[in-house]
Amino acid sequence: MSQEDFSKGSNFERGWKKRFGQYADARDDDAGIAGWTQSGLETRVRNFDALWAPATEARSWLDAGCGAGTYSRFMLGKGKQVVGLDYCFPAVKKALNRSSNGVGWGVADVTRLPIANGSFDGAICFGVTQALSTSNEVSRELAAAVKPGGEIWIDALNSACLPHLLGRLKRKLLQRDMHLRYESPRQLRRAMEDAGIVKLKRYWIPILPYRFCRYQWIFETRVMRGLLHSVPVLGALLSHGFVIKGYRQQ
Ligand SMILES: C[S@@+](CC[C@H](N)C(=O)[O-])C[C@H]1O[C@@H](n2cnc3c(N)ncnc32)[C@H](O)[C@@H]1O
Repeated sequence: MSQEDFSKGSNFERGWKKRFGQYADARDDDAGIAGWTQSGLETRVRNFDALWAPATEARSWLDAGCGAGTYSRFMLGKGKQVVGLDYCFPAVKKALNRSSNGVGWGVADVTRLPIANGSFDGAICFGVTQALSTSNEVSRELAAAVKPGGEIWIDALNSACLPHLLGRLKRKLLQRDMHLRYESPRQLRRAMEDAGIVKLKRYWIPILPYRFCRYQWIFETRVMRGLLHSVPVLGALLSHGFVIKGYRQQ
């Protein structure tokens, strides 16, 4: 595999599927099952909690690539009907064991969802695109899974983030394969637009590495959020990831 080869069916996707299975087999906490650090997962969920304001009538939600079911349970707790899907059977089994009744769980690939068109009012897909060869198929599948006008949230690892740039450079110099797929908001936007998702809005997600997590609060102050929002280049350089929200075209 060349250093930037993320072609469909490549070792890259297969490697990640195997790794996610190993995480889920080995761990019993939400973060571990999904392959996150505890502080990283907490930061992500806090971010989503701050941003997500669905309409009351948007009742049914799909959590695509649900891992341990963290977001499924979160949305259930907000009064939504939720289905959590993941291609990793051990993760789905653990999600089921960790949850009270209320969420529907299933094993499925987010790039080939076995779901009738327009089944949900909304869909999220978090922590998945970095392990996919492209964001095109998942965008198309999520667009088809929600009703026209339905809300869709997809996140990705930010290719312009400084530590990521340095990490990728190091891998290039050492001629090592890329471990994760990074992308720019522009690339993900294009994938979502091509899938018929409109009214796109991007939010930066700054997440400090575990060893600096005690300083994470600085990035969550109103001043810092405002700065990242109003100076996009700063957001791009400092944010570990980003999330794009949009709506299926009516
Ligand atoms: C990093 S975890 C994120 C889990 C959860 N969404 C979260 O954010 O905490 C990524 C999850 O996506 C799942 N996944 C990756 N590629 C997938 C695919 N093509 N179809 C379904 N699930 C997938 C993995 O099995 C894993 O459980």
